[in-house]
Amino acid sequence: MTATTVPTRTVDADGNPISGSTEGVARYDRAVDLLLRYHPDVVGAVEGLATADDPLPMGQAFVAYLYLTSTDVPDVAGAREAAAALDALPLNERETAHAAAIDAWLDGRWDTAARTLDDLLVRWPTDTLALQIGHILDFFVGDAGNLRDRIGRSLPSLDPDSSRTGFVRGLQSFGLEESGHYEQAESVGLEAVGRNPDDVWGIHAVVHTYEMQGRIDEGIRFLRARESDWGSGNLFTTHNWWHLALYLLEAGRVDEALAIYDAEVHNDESARVSLAMLDGSALLWRLTLDDVDTGDRYAKLARAWESQIADEPWYVFNDFHAVVALCGAGRIDDARAVIERLARDVDAAPVEPGTNRAMTAEVGLPASRAVLAYVEGRHDDVVGDLLPIRRVVNRFGGSHAQRDLVQRTLTESAIRSGRLDLARALLDERISLRDTSVYGLLGRARVLSARGDTDAAHAAEEAARANRARFGAAAS
Ligand SMILES: [Fe+2]
Repeated sequence: MTATTVPTRTVDADGNPISGSTEGVARYDRAVDLLLRYHPDVVGAVEGLATADDPLPMGQAFVAYLYLTSTDVPDVAGAREAAAALDALPLNERETAHAAAIDAWLDGRWDTAARTLDDLLVRWPTDTLALQIGHILDFFVGDAGNLRDRIGRSLPSLDPDSSRTGFVRGLQSFGLEESGHYEQAESVGLEAVGRNPDDVWGIHAVVHTYEMQGRIDEGIRFLRARESDWGSGNLFTTHNWWHLALYLLEAGRVDEALAIYDAEVHNDESARVSLAMLDGSALLWRLTLDDVDTGDRYAKLARAWESQIADEPWYVFNDFHAVVALCGAGRIDDARAVIERLARDVDAAPVEPGTNRAMTAEVGLPASRAVLAYVEGRHDDVVGDLLPIRRVVNRFGGSHAQRDLVQRTLTESAIRSGRLDLARALLDERISLRDTSVYGLLGRARVLSARGDTDAAHAAEEAARANRARFGAAAS
């Protein structure tokens, strides 16, 4: 009997070395294209990549990455299984580099995983999967510089006419925005979205530029005009809806923001995915800081977080948002238990300190303690926890917009503890960057009023009212 020979390919669609059958590599290429679009079919496509009778190392790597990028503790086991399958296959140099990045991540060395993908991309700058996963890792560890530069290093090597390069420009736009290059970020992002209207990450990058510059009316119009491109049918809908809800809060449309929360951010049918639930915590907490009644939403959200709260330390950015939900729900003992676990994580002495341990020690633990102190009315303690870390909050991951709830908590507690000079400074700092900030101007008015400067307080209130009216008109 003669053994049949399976046709093989030696390079993928990016032109990089890959091991596998012609059919397997074609499936891999298709899965990469789906991931760039956050298309829901990517999950099934990736599951189908690593079949026993058609071993495809990059398929196993893709499976591991997909589990890891969920940041959910229960998904780590799936990533470990795929990594073991990957390690058992004969690998070329590029696949070996991916295996090393995955092993580092599984060891809790998120930073090392990111550096390994940096090195890989120096050698194979057109590796789209490495760019995409590396970008997400940079986001998870709050590395704004590398969100921008990882893409900048590779772009000149990419085919300018490829649709994939359009998506990579979407990644670049977000990196530019997180690094404060708002004009360039907007122009690159709009170009990316113009090339690929279903580039939901590129849309998101543009949305961030409007958020950070206080161009709320433009942001509302931008999202509304493109709702059919991002509002459903992709794995990134929750987060973009969350951004629209933030805009609406600035426009004073609390009921509409809550309607978005109920329909799109979190409800009884929502999947228990940390990356989505943390948007829920972040939206409700903004309302808590404004003393808005959020009904039973915290209670439901806190119950959803239960399945993600593990004894095993993994990603403190999620733990922090679970603490927010527990505190908002009044489940103080449960919040305290999570915080005590975080403290134990910091005090433990592993052979090699992991990235998450450093993130917990530096930001996650004090930020979580501050949230608990806030709901207990201990505003001096909030200031004591947050003031020393306010310039390094990026180190526990996420975006400026996501981490803003930490800065807002500090500002609110500064006001409530009577530290008006500090509150004024924090608000002035914000307004100096976005002079249309309704939140900032209303805060300034409160501080001025508390100091007895009623004329100046009135002027700040009027400015806030005018901006809010303009934003509200965009929402109508
Ligand atoms: Fe965002």
